[in-house]
Amino acid sequence: MPAAVIIGAQWGDEGKGKATDLLAGRIDYVVKFNGGNNAGHTVVIGDEKYALHLLPSGILTPGVTPVISNGVVIDIEVLFQELDALSARGVDVSRLRISANAHVITAYHRTLDKVTERFLGKRQIGTTGRGIGPTYADKINRVGIRMQDLFDENILRQKVEGALDQKNHLLVKVYNRRAIAVDEIVTELLSYADRLRPMVVDTALELHEALERGETVLFEGGQATMLDVDHGTYPFVTSSSSTSGGAATGSGIAPNRIDRVIGIVKAYTTRVGSGPFPTELFDASGDFLRENGHEFGTTTGRPRRCGWYDAPIARYSARINGVTDYVMTKLDVLTGLETIPVCVAYDIEGVRVDEVPVSQSDFHHATPIYEEFPGWSEDISGARTFEELPRTAREYVLAIEAMSGARISAIGVGPGRDAIIARHDLLD
Ligand code: GDP
Ligand code: IMO
Ligand code: MG
Repeated sequence: MPAAVIIGAQWGDEGKGKATDLLAGRIDYVVKFNGGNNAGHTVVIGDEKYALHLLPSGILTPGVTPVISNGVVIDIEVLFQELDALSARGVDVSRLRISANAHVITAYHRTLDKVTERFLGKRQIGTTGRGIGPTYADKINRVGIRMQDLFDENILRQKVEGALDQKNHLLVKVYNRRAIAVDEIVTELLSYADRLRPMVVDTALELHEALERGETVLFEGGQATMLDVDHGTYPFVTSSSSTSGGAATGSGIAPNRIDRVIGIVKAYTTRVGSGPFPTELFDASGDFLRENGHEFGTTTGRPRRCGWYDAPIARYSARINGVTDYVMTKLDVLTGLETIPVCVAYDIEGVRVDEVPVSQSDFHHATPIYEEFPGWSEDISGARTFEELPRTAREYVLAIEAMSGARISAIGVGPGRDAIIARHDLLD
């Protein structure tokens, strides 16, 4: 089994962290390939709760080598804080590898993220404010700072000068902010170099060699399909490739080495930030999902927008990512509902549409067509086999499986590591 990818199938926070943690015991490397500290993964192990942002969740498993590959953008201060916090709790972080080609989030990226959002007014994306978009913009614009630049002061200074040249004009003349001094940035970044030096390597080569040795690599996607910069609800997306294809470009591992794609999908839907969300609920049902599911952001603490399961989105994700298995999380959150609506298609201006429409305005105007399923009232959090679930819960899962484009191979029934029902082997 060479390589597998975990991706979010909806708008994020599906429980990818828990799914990675679940598989980590069977893998040698876990790779974060996109995004940065905009991600927030909560993993519950026994009485301990961990919130990870920049580090891959697999770091919690002893023996696994964690990797931050080239597709990630790194806020180094946050990286050190996370490493120190985990070390203080007894997690071994000594094997972490970071790509020399990963881009660096600096103070000016964070500032630009916040001021551009403010200037967008009503059209704002609702970003996490972590500098993600401006850092990827610099990467594409070829004025980014990479990890390797931190080890050559001359190069670093030239690059920071190049990057700040235009930005300072923008900051001062357009956004009415103070200019940022080149020295300030260079001094800060250089101060990180010594600690970083042993971690920064050619991760593409190291992963290739691991695969050649027959070791197993798990790619852990941040964000999700509907937040992907190409395939999501643009412009209300993040700035990276959070679909399975991103695992290849974001790591330097060829696509034909990846043979399992594990999609994580919630038994309902949530979204943080702005943008279209056809099944969003504004009534007591939405509050029920938010309260029962503790749907408040791991990164920003914002209440998540909540809605019913959207089968066209699951089918879309199955197609775009090549999902081989779905893990459905949070089935337990639906306990107590009399009936559970599932969106099976959309009504767009009076026409039934079965797929996620390519036109953004159509998606904005999509009204869900619901099918209703009977709920259950029994506590399911202790169930460990599919047969132990109440009949109506089994029927809900089977109905969703039939509409979602891939088999549902595991079902989450609680936040804990062991609160899962396995139906099929995810890696086989
Ligand atoms: P990620 O960003 O995809 O890793 O997901 P988050 O960690 O942001 O959000 C998922 C939340 O749901 C976390 O607080 C998890 O502990 C929790 N969780 C995961 N799976 C389950 C489940 O099956 N049931 C319940 N009740 N909670 C779950
Ligand atoms: P995980 O990995 C949910 C959303 C933000 C905003 C948009 C752009 O925990 O699933 P950005 O700061 O990335 O430029 O913000 O994307 N967003 C997420 N929503 N979960 C995440 O990560 C997210 N990462 C970014 O709320 O709407
Ligand atoms: Mg999250």
